[in-house]
Amino acid sequence: MAPAPQDAKVTTAALRARKGTPEKVAMVTAYDVVFARLADDAGVDVVLVGDSLGMVMQGERSTLPVTLDDMVYHTRIVSRGVRRAHLVSDMPFMSYQASLEDGIRAAGRLIKEGRAEAVKLEGGVEVAELIRRLVGLGIPVVGHVGMTPQSVHQFGGFKIQGRTEAQREKILADARAVAEAGAYSIVIEAVPQSLAAEITRTVSAVTIGIGAGPECDGQVMVMHDLLGLEPSWKPRFVRRYAELGKAAGEAFAAYAADVRAGRFPGPQESFD
Ligand code: KIV
Repeated sequence: MAPAPQDAKVTTAALRARKGTPEKVAMVTAYDVVFARLADDAGVDVVLVGDSLGMVMQGERSTLPVTLDDMVYHTRIVSRGVRRAHLVSDMPFMSYQASLEDGIRAAGRLIKEGRAEAVKLEGGVEVAELIRRLVGLGIPVVGHVGMTPQSVHQFGGFKIQGRTEAQREKILADARAVAEAGAYSIVIEAVPQSLAAEITRTVSAVTIGIGAGPECDGQVMVMHDLLGLEPSWKPRFVRRYAELGKAAGEAFAAYAADVRAGRFPGPQESFD
């Protein structure tokens, strides 16, 4: 029996077909099998194993310390929870910047060992040749332009990019270079919405915004932000759809109180 359309596997071709249509693409990050399965079952189109895992899972101040082994590990466990969604994995800092060969081998590990279906890498003109090679080798690529977190020290912090004319021109040129090199999709992060809209109008790749306004072809959010797992962190571009951090804190406190008072376990949680 042919799968129902809502159960059909999301492929790069299916995502490309949505470019310029009213049907936006919903992407979310995941780092383990439980949340990957929840996102997949909920009908999210693309699950991204982001190198944001350095910050939200490992407690680092940036994504820079994340290793290729970390990404392979998390991508593989996420892949076990993803059935329908398209699975993308981030290439971490210094897994592709030093040489084309490094980049090809790193992408290969994410696909072969991590079971990713596409890789994402940051940058523009300077990574175009690598993108061309990867696509030529059959590896779908998602670009990432604007506020690229792996360049945090060059930006002097996680700051909005593209507000000056020079930055705007550079980001536009980067997006064009990445799309022309064959990236089927581009994440646009933390830029004015008019710039993201212009990129979306001018490139053939499916644009996915984060802090880039509503005119992109889709949106991505870090799972922890969407679910409110870090109650003290609420930047402007985030919309919280749950308060799981608060709920988890209350559950831990109730459990600890029950244990201390001898209320847990009760007869129904014990064996005769
Ligand atoms: O690492 C990540 O989670 C990302 C998204 C924010 C797009 O790159």
